[in-house]
Amino acid sequence: MVDINKLVRENVIKLIPYSSARDDFKGKTGIFMDANENPYGTMNRYPDPYQIELKAGISKIKGIKEEQIFLGNGSDEIIDLCFRVFCNPGTDKALTFTPTYGMYPVSASVNDIEMIKVPLNEEFQIDLKKAEYCFSDKNLKLVFICSPNNPTANSINFNDIDYIITKFSGIVVIDEAYIDFSEKPSFIKLINKYPNLIVMQTFSKALGLAAVRIGMAFTNPAIIQYFNKMKPPYNISAINQKAALKKLTQIDKFKSQVLRIKKERVRLSEILSKMKVVEKVYPSDANFLLVRVKNADYIYNTLVNKNIIIRNRSKVIDNCLRITVGKKSENDKLIGALNELDHLK
Ligand SMILES: Cc1ncc(COP(=O)(O)O)c(C=O)c1O
Repeated sequence: MVDINKLVRENVIKLIPYSSARDDFKGKTGIFMDANENPYGTMNRYPDPYQIELKAGISKIKGIKEEQIFLGNGSDEIIDLCFRVFCNPGTDKALTFTPTYGMYPVSASVNDIEMIKVPLNEEFQIDLKKAEYCFSDKNLKLVFICSPNNPTANSINFNDIDYIITKFSGIVVIDEAYIDFSEKPSFIKLINKYPNLIVMQTFSKALGLAAVRIGMAFTNPAIIQYFNKMKPPYNISAINQKAALKKLTQIDKFKSQVLRIKKERVRLSEILSKMKVVEKVYPSDANFLLVRVKNADYIYNTLVNKNIIIRNRSKVIDNCLRITVGKKSENDKLIGALNELDHLK
């Protein structure tokens, strides 16, 4: 059994966190003269530091207890907190499987943590032997697995992830930013089985609130406590909490949007596959397609000149473009622009 306290940095264990006015008095009514706020206005009060109402809403939808939920200023804040809670700068290491989401290595560098990068195999799956070889390094504290993975769009085999969680005695973070677009199961319920598991999801993708910046971590309450100790006291603004709460009342709309995006993903994928300029459209469990073409730089620049912006990933995967599935009308414009290039050999 993993003892979380043994994995946490000593200075974090000893840390006496900032205690805000809202920590000292949790009531909602009264004459508030405790936080040096302006008594006038409607946005004059600090927000709930622990987002209790929002977590209650998320708890109902996800079937996860409120004390197992942490909310960050985007998933990116949660990624950063993982490093700050578990990794000693200059000494500890993290592991991820490349190509993958670029914030893991950036956040590692910011925190002066060495990021070990094990390449995914040809099917964009984890090479378990290579992964396991790294687990004997006593300074390895964190493993990041992105599933469905950005930019490869596929899900990582469930059994392989499960194997890693059981074999690795540090913290395993599964980034499920795109899980709502996938038919494959989430790991979210397995936080009750594995104390060293953190599952991240976000309001930025299927929930359509990228501007609002709310990332979710589902994990055991011991880890949540350390995250709460380390985070800035008011990391989610009142406006953002309100926007996310409103979104939770529109779940039917969310589901129908996801269905539309998935339908368009299939249509776009089929049309692109038949184009001469396209060599391969990779299977996708996400809201984007990874497409290998003959000349990625040329196609990217031509599309930008037509005001169609996709992501050129050819520096990461040879001649590959990442295309986010848009509205039908947007996808049609992309298809039209690519058809004009179909003469390319
Ligand atoms: C795999 C993955 N995780 C997390 C994020 C960012 O999430 P957030 O907007 O919650 O910071 C992205 C954004 O592209 C992503 O691709």
